[in-house]
Amino acid sequence: MPAAADAPSVSPSPTKKPVAGGSRPSVAEMLAMARGEKQDGATASAPVAKEKPTRKAADKPVAPAAQQEMAPVSTGPIDTQSILAAARKGAKPGPMTKAEAAARGAIAVPEAKKARAKEAIVVPPMPVRPESAKPLTGRTKDQPQAERRAFLFGFSALTVGFAGLAATFGAWTLATVRFMFPSILREPPSRFKVGFPDQYPAGQVEEKFKAQFGVWIVNTEYRGEQQLVALRTVCTHLGCTPNWLETEQKFKCPCHGSGFYKDGINFEGPAPRPLERYAISVASDGQIEVDKSRMFQEEMGQWNDPGCYIPV
Ligand code: FES
Repeated sequence: MPAAADAPSVSPSPTKKPVAGGSRPSVAEMLAMARGEKQDGATASAPVAKEKPTRKAADKPVAPAAQQEMAPVSTGPIDTQSILAAARKGAKPGPMTKAEAAARGAIAVPEAKKARAKEAIVVPPMPVRPESAKPLTGRTKDQPQAERRAFLFGFSALTVGFAGLAATFGAWTLATVRFMFPSILREPPSRFKVGFPDQYPAGQVEEKFKAQFGVWIVNTEYRGEQQLVALRTVCTHLGCTPNWLETEQKFKCPCHGSGFYKDGINFEGPAPRPLERYAISVASDGQIEVDKSRMFQEEMGQWNDPGCYIPV
């Protein structure tokens, strides 16, 4: 082949080093053979110059000759895609369990082991049911539950009945007791004591009995005489309750503005007449006693009655 003679001289490549101790061709030579080139000798005939030496091929360690001879020659697919395609075709089964391998006959299972496997799935016989667990003769399965339900229903109805009866009896008792104590309007007593006369100095208007008894205890002068009187806290116009104004020394009705002097004489507003007096006296114990059952009206000349004032 003239290619060998015409080939330019190329410096020897590191890949063309002869393999020590064996006749096995180097990687570069095997590559050249694969490309179909004629191998003539170890170095001269091969177009080594055209071969691009790769770092991988150059640096690849050369295996010992014995080890290279023992290495199996792969005839099947050598790349991943080929391996996966072969596996998908079933040519290369995947991992399997021992049971699957035994089923496929891949491994031999001892006969004793097969016998034990058959014994393991033998179902033991059912135990004999004891007498206590046997169903009662003559009673259905749901009969006890139905009896219990009926008992609870009857007990509940009885309880509700007794509760209603007790409530009715209680209400009847309360009504009877209420009937024995009829409705009455409890008012303060008409006669009550308000202390001793010396507790009321001249000109004083005592209001502490206004809320409870509706009375002002007043030490006032009437027609030139100093008297202790009990004035009724009711306006003579329309019945409102006037207020005592200490600064103005008068009773003033908040409803229509009627005004009354300290002795109860009206002097302004629509009130047509003076305030009324209650009966007042000195009790046997020396205290002032007011009797609301008796009233005295000034316009009728009743304020001259000794029963409506205490001279002081
Ligand atoms: Fe007192 Fe009319 S009720 S002024």
